[in-house]
Amino acid sequence: MKGKIKKASIIGLISSIVALALLLVTLVRYHKIKENEKAPEIKKSEKLILGFSQIGSESAWRTRNTESIFEAAEEADIQILFDDAQQKQENQLKAIRSFIVYQVDVIAFVPIVEDGWDNVLNEAKEAGIPVILVDRQINADPSLYAGFLGEDGLEEGRNAAHFLLDKKKDSGGNILELSGTENSSVVRERAKGFREIISQRPDLKIIHSENGDFLRSRGKEIAERLIKDARNKGNYNDDALYYNNQKIDIIYSHNDSMTLGLLDTFANYRINPSSTIIISIDAEQKSIDALKTGKLSCVVECNPNLGPSLMHLVKQVAAGNTIPRITYIEESVFTENDDFSSYEPRGY
Ligand code: AHR
Repeated sequence: MKGKIKKASIIGLISSIVALALLLVTLVRYHKIKENEKAPEIKKSEKLILGFSQIGSESAWRTRNTESIFEAAEEADIQILFDDAQQKQENQLKAIRSFIVYQVDVIAFVPIVEDGWDNVLNEAKEAGIPVILVDRQINADPSLYAGFLGEDGLEEGRNAAHFLLDKKKDSGGNILELSGTENSSVVRERAKGFREIISQRPDLKIIHSENGDFLRSRGKEIAERLIKDARNKGNYNDDALYYNNQKIDIIYSHNDSMTLGLLDTFANYRINPSSTIIISIDAEQKSIDALKTGKLSCVVECNPNLGPSLMHLVKQVAAGNTIPRITYIEESVFTENDDFSSYEPRGY
């Protein structure tokens, strides 16, 4: 028995050392993001401490999302322990476990995918640390987290489709869909919302759907491959993309990074897709600029500025209050029919 207790405490000691080491890595990563700032102290302070696990920096949208959270934390006098998971769920799991060992007051994280969070969330629950989901949702028992804050992906998909139905009142067309990170809630929702609306119009067909990981480089690659394929088959024109000898009339892209990659390829291959309707999601400044010059037809906003609402929710849960299960952020839609002079700079 004594031996077992001794073994248990050695294991406990080793896990604490490993956790502390992880935390130090975390602080070093935090330091990388805000190089001019002093690293936070590795001890409990008077301030509320929020452990925040971000998925990475795959897009300008994501970078703005991280900035918004840091800015709001500073404003709210909340200390952040930050981890950049570099697009890996396993890194997020490690980071959340290190936040638990450190006994932060609240944990917030952007779940890269929907599944696989039950164990770590049970651990946070046992440690009495409330968890807030940011930007993306998960498949898990709702009692394992306090609430969700972010976009309504279904509505974003529906908004993209509503624009299309309106634009293509009188004729159908072939659609290419570029989607983002596989198994993420946002991709499932954007695909579902879009299909829900276009199903009213059997003449609008998704002829190809491909995962571009939300990356500019992948958007570029996918367009390049389609162009090369079409040229090899000898059935192409420089006015559009083709898939299996079928002209693509509409491109529905789940984010601006992939859309901008696609536009890069159009420029490189001197494709002039003036007859292609391109709909993108996010509303980064660069895609708004492309909308203004007629390269895009519609940009559905996904609002990255979640910081202020997150800090409000953090304070609520830290004080033991219940927060809404879902808090959606306000979003709008930009289209070619707008008065562009009324647009404010996007800031990202
Ligand atoms: O989860 C939000 C999505 O993730 C954004 O649309 C995209 O740009 C980001 O990388």
